[in-house]
Amino acid sequence: MRDFILLYINGLRYEIKGVEVFLTLSDYLRQSLGLRGTKIVCSEGDCGSCSVLVGKPDGDARLSYQFIDSCIQFVFQLDGKHVVTVEGLADSDSTYCSDVGTRLNEVQQAMIDCHGSQCGFCTPGFVVAMTGLLQERRSLSTKQWRAGLTGNLCRCTGYSPIIEAGLKAQESPTKTLNEMYDATEILAAFRETQRDSISIRDDIEQLQVFCPTSLDESLQLLGRHPDAKIVAGATDVGVQFNKGLCEARIWIDLNRVTEIEGVFVHSNTIDAGARATWAEIQTIASQVEPEFEKIVSAFGSPQIRHAGTLGGNIINASPVADSLPLLLVCHAQLTISSVNRTRTVDINRFYHGYKKFDLNSGELLTRITIPLPETGLLRLYKISRRLDLDISSFTAAIWLNTEGSSKGVLRNASKIADAKIAYGAVGTTVLRLSKTEEFLRDKLLSEETMIAAGDIAVAEISPISDVRGGDEYRYNLARNVLVKYYHQSQSRSSIAV
Ligand SMILES: Cc1cc2nc3c(=O)[nH]c(=O)nc-3n(C[C@H](O)[C@H](O)[C@H](O)COP(=O)(O)OP(=O)(O)OC[C@H]3O[C@@H](n4cnc5c(N)ncnc54)[C@H](O)[C@@H]3O)c2cc1C
Ligand code: FES
Ligand code: FES
Repeated sequence: MRDFILLYINGLRYEIKGVEVFLTLSDYLRQSLGLRGTKIVCSEGDCGSCSVLVGKPDGDARLSYQFIDSCIQFVFQLDGKHVVTVEGLADSDSTYCSDVGTRLNEVQQAMIDCHGSQCGFCTPGFVVAMTGLLQERRSLSTKQWRAGLTGNLCRCTGYSPIIEAGLKAQESPTKTLNEMYDATEILAAFRETQRDSISIRDDIEQLQVFCPTSLDESLQLLGRHPDAKIVAGATDVGVQFNKGLCEARIWIDLNRVTEIEGVFVHSNTIDAGARATWAEIQTIASQVEPEFEKIVSAFGSPQIRHAGTLGGNIINASPVADSLPLLLVCHAQLTISSVNRTRTVDINRFYHGYKKFDLNSGELLTRITIPLPETGLLRLYKISRRLDLDISSFTAAIWLNTEGSSKGVLRNASKIADAKIAYGAVGTTVLRLSKTEEFLRDKLLSEETMIAAGDIAVAEISPISDVRGGDEYRYNLARNVLVKYYHQSQSRSSIAV
């Protein structure tokens, strides 16, 4: 049993013990190591000023790096990872900049050349995110730079000079992080320790964390500590912790449990481990269901998608969770395990009320199976005040099938054979609209039918007024989305993103 987290930071080995493993990564970097280039502004994953790169083993000879928000990542999640901060982006071969008296990588130099920084508070986060984007692909279009930087906010410079800096940086030949940092030593150290179970206690603060290496070990631990706080990506838990809303003493971290990671497609069914990240799901969704890809690409930001998981979204049980409308209309099957048994639940029977669901103490969500519709027309909707990085004001999944329809296009005035509809942000959970579905079955598809269905839909929901929209606004959306769906269904390009 190991009592430390093994972590590399900017190429150096750290064995972290005791209370420090319960710190957020940003606090550890700044307070314990004095690496203050990583800034903290919002502490809730919104601004990206705390962005760092996290490398994990990818085969025998390299690490694959993704950028995340370090303010909502605990040190204990990072065993077997290489963290690269803004201080670690340039090496002795990088160009020396006499203006700032240090070596800079090509992104940092381009930010200076293009006037991409004013007060400078957001700049390290942008530089890290931009360097991260250049690890994934050598050349990005303006649109891709914009999409890649939706998790970074700047209050003073404006985004045009920053995007210009990205475009300029990619013109210069640059070393990848795998070329800058010799992966051999890092990977050898990780290999030696990857099978160790980890248990770390801090007796003064009375904290304990377990980082199991298998599903079986996780379930045994959960059996012994049924009230332990489970952590996957921590994009919800980290925010709650920073707001003082999570006072767990015992933690179980799932980040080393490989059986519940990854996402696959078998004959039109998505089969995801509970720990499949949104970035992984985005790749799969773009291949199998463009509607889902459209929703996933607007999910949080790249930083959130690199860390956040499908399982975390389901168990966080928000009535505005973006995955849920699709999962409800597809009748996603949840595999739930405890030490004694494994059971499968249709997600339509999982939620019972606000943050109330069918998961007993000692149980873990392990897999999610999503059978995608093979006929009819599926459309997904996310309405939010901002296009990027915003919580939904209203969400919907609508799937209709008509007699004689081909996949993706419904014939006007044909009979509706089946209907499945789910709305989010209109009640205490994401809701299936069973009465509206029943009304639609056997009706002729027309604008009038969908308008009439809107009357049933508003009677099935009970939205509240909050900062994201008034109840009347949500009632209107509940009606209008059905009419919008109808008009989209009559277009040949109805499944275009
Ligand atoms: C800036 C920001 C933007 C966001 N944008 C969106 C968005 O656009 N749409 C959206 O829907 N959400 C959004 N979220 C919310 C969050 O990112 C998602 O809910 C995410 O999927 C949570 O996954 P996670 O792995 O980080 O969960 P965690 O924070 O690790 O866990 C969430 C909850 O699930 C439990 N849990 C996790 N895994 C398991 C498991 N396998 N079994 C049992 N319990 C488990 C945890 O104990 C915890 O209660 C956003 C969050 C932030 C901070
Ligand atoms: S400090 Fe804003 S995302 Fe971390
Ligand atoms: S340069 Fe000031 S916040 Fe971006």
